[in-house]
Amino acid sequence: MHNLYLPVEEALAKRKQKGVLRTLRPRQKGVDFYSNNYLGFAGNENFQNILLEAIQKNPDVLNGSTGSRLISGNSDIVTQTEKYIAKEHHCEAALLFPSGYNANLALFSALPNRHDTVIVDEKIHRSVHDACKLSNAKKLKFKHNDYNHLEDILKRQTGTVYIAVESLYSMDGDFCPLQEITDLTAKYNAGLIVDEAHAFGVFGYGLVNSLKLHEKVLATVVTYGKALGTHGAAVLTNDLIKAYLINFASPFIYTTSAHDFLWISISKGYEFLNENKAASVQLQKNIATFRRGNLKSRSQENSPIQAIIIPDNHQLKELSKTLSDNGFLTYPIFSPTVREGTERLRICLHSFNTESEISELTKIINEFI
Ligand SMILES: Cc1ncc(COP(=O)(O)O)c(C=O)c1O
Repeated sequence: MHNLYLPVEEALAKRKQKGVLRTLRPRQKGVDFYSNNYLGFAGNENFQNILLEAIQKNPDVLNGSTGSRLISGNSDIVTQTEKYIAKEHHCEAALLFPSGYNANLALFSALPNRHDTVIVDEKIHRSVHDACKLSNAKKLKFKHNDYNHLEDILKRQTGTVYIAVESLYSMDGDFCPLQEITDLTAKYNAGLIVDEAHAFGVFGYGLVNSLKLHEKVLATVVTYGKALGTHGAAVLTNDLIKAYLINFASPFIYTTSAHDFLWISISKGYEFLNENKAASVQLQKNIATFRRGNLKSRSQENSPIQAIIIPDNHQLKELSKTLSDNGFLTYPIFSPTVREGTERLRICLHSFNTESEISELTKIINEFI
């Protein structure tokens, strides 16, 4: 009889043999240079107290939402939170999701149809690739941040075209040339969608907002599980696209809405962000301290994500182990998450990392290399 487990076992064995088998481990103890908690809001006692107070005032927020937002799950709190977010970002409408993955899945599976084309930066997040499969649209890739290559591809398209970029790339820690890509989008009448998962909070309300490009962008995705220290995501867009997503995006329609506590934590998170601007200033100081450590980083100067290429799996594993033996938690990224030969140590800097921790980290890496 056909062995159902055989291909599964073979796939896992292949990963193990390559030394890249993923396993779940208990959260390690050590100095955090690997999480997305850039501003230290997750675990911030003042933020926790604000959230506790909100729950005490209204314990109902802990209840399950009871259904899809199109049936019984559309609370006043989620509606008010969306209005608040739209106002903060100076856009017409916001649509909330329980995570950034869900937001991207909704957008890119629903908006493009089988006759359309989605052009993605080759380094775009996996959620966009997964969504494109669901949409059946044609997907093309342009070379990372290469807007000339993007234009070459755009010139050859007919019909509706969407472009997908991240404002700050999570694996390389570099920024998208947003201005140039927005100009191209306008020239070719395409729809630009910007994922701001790693920029939101670190750079105010994100780079689309700070560069005042929101009117030229079809939709922006901001996520709240990283710098904001909570969870969830919003698609920032106009009323028309919001109505379309509510009608056609399966990841929005066919799922139970999150409980109100999530939405409360997001609006309180915005307030906390505005009251604690010092955190992002401190983060920039820490990034500068790291950069003075003279490591060859392929990332941009003011990025909280710094990637050090160690193109040898074995060496990368060794380095990451040496760091963890010394109490430093970093994240080695092996292929296939990144292309073979570009394996790297990803270091995430935070507002709460101390100068001596950063200096010690760079010293160990410099000695190893
Ligand atoms: C660029 C990018 N987009 C989307 C996501 C997904 O966001 P979330 O973790 O909220 O699902 C991530 C998280 O890894 C990301 O890095």
